[in-house]
Amino acid sequence: MNTPSSDIAEEILRLKEQRNAVIIAHNYQREEVQDIADFTGDSLELSRTASTIECDVIVFCGVDFMAESASILSPDKTVLLPEIGATCPMAAMIRADSPRDFWKSFPGYEDKPSLVYPKEYSINDIKRDHPGAPVVAYVNTTAEVKAAVDICCTSANVIDVVSSLPDKKIICVPDKNLSDWARKNTDKEIISWDGFCHVHDRIQARDVEAARREHPDALFMAHPECRPEVLELADHVTSTSGMLRYSTASDHNEFIVGTEVGLMYRLGKENPGKTFHALRGDMICPNMKKTTLESVLHSLKEMVNVVKVEEDIRIQAKHSLDRMLEITGSPAKK
Ligand code: 13P
Ligand code: SF4
Repeated sequence: MNTPSSDIAEEILRLKEQRNAVIIAHNYQREEVQDIADFTGDSLELSRTASTIECDVIVFCGVDFMAESASILSPDKTVLLPEIGATCPMAAMIRADSPRDFWKSFPGYEDKPSLVYPKEYSINDIKRDHPGAPVVAYVNTTAEVKAAVDICCTSANVIDVVSSLPDKKIICVPDKNLSDWARKNTDKEIISWDGFCHVHDRIQARDVEAARREHPDALFMAHPECRPEVLELADHVTSTSGMLRYSTASDHNEFIVGTEVGLMYRLGKENPGKTFHALRGDMICPNMKKTTLESVLHSLKEMVNVVKVEEDIRIQAKHSLDRMLEITGSPAKK
């Protein structure tokens, strides 16, 4: 017989007390997971929380790079990722080491600097082609990549981070759409990567046109991981929590939501009386949906699925995260 979810939630709360644990959830998590979380937010808010929170255990309900960042920022805490297979495919699209020598042996390979780098290359390749240009990595990357770059960014602060750098030429990895958004909104020459989020990149301009026809009074909010032609049609481009703030502050009552459907829960809950329409019902990140109440309970009970980063990588990766947090006002303590 299945245990009712209220019993599971109660058991989680009991164990949370016992272990002095805090549950952190991304805005895309399942509704019942968001409901048991102490903090829910976008990547920037969750990094800030992980760097400042007082507890012994962090249960990170999200995907692996987020739990890794929490462990990088708070090495004295035990960080649990309830579903160890919850990964971000975009983070797997870039690596720190140098595989170009391998590709050189293939016919047709061109060894020359490019404006948009294919996924087969690495941070080291791109740095070699553009000596001196700083590298900005989206937090949707592995700890090794964070350790190999100069500074991190999230969807909420990419423009501030890029603008803060004194250099004219800046390498921005791995999301080509986020990089394009930074190029359009700064005066920098951005060298980008061929990475993308499959949930956002599948959206076409015609999807926005269809949603606007169906909801002519609604404002359209888009995540910067969407393609440039989709962002062109948006009333506001921002992170997931940025959408919450924008819709709450707006005089408008109706919105089309251009991001993963998990955000719809918070949007509705925190804005009673306002109406939100998903841009497309299939904007679902399967990895974000892997975490369940059962997996949270299991990891907390057994203290399994611990995420820990090797110390030499951690120290370098933390430098990139700290630089980002300094720009947005909340550096980690250690
Ligand atoms: P936010 O930082 O805007 O919440 O986005 C995270 C993410 O994974 C988007 O796909
Ligand atoms: Fe990665 Fe996209 Fe899922 Fe975010 S929504 S975790 S970027 S695959």
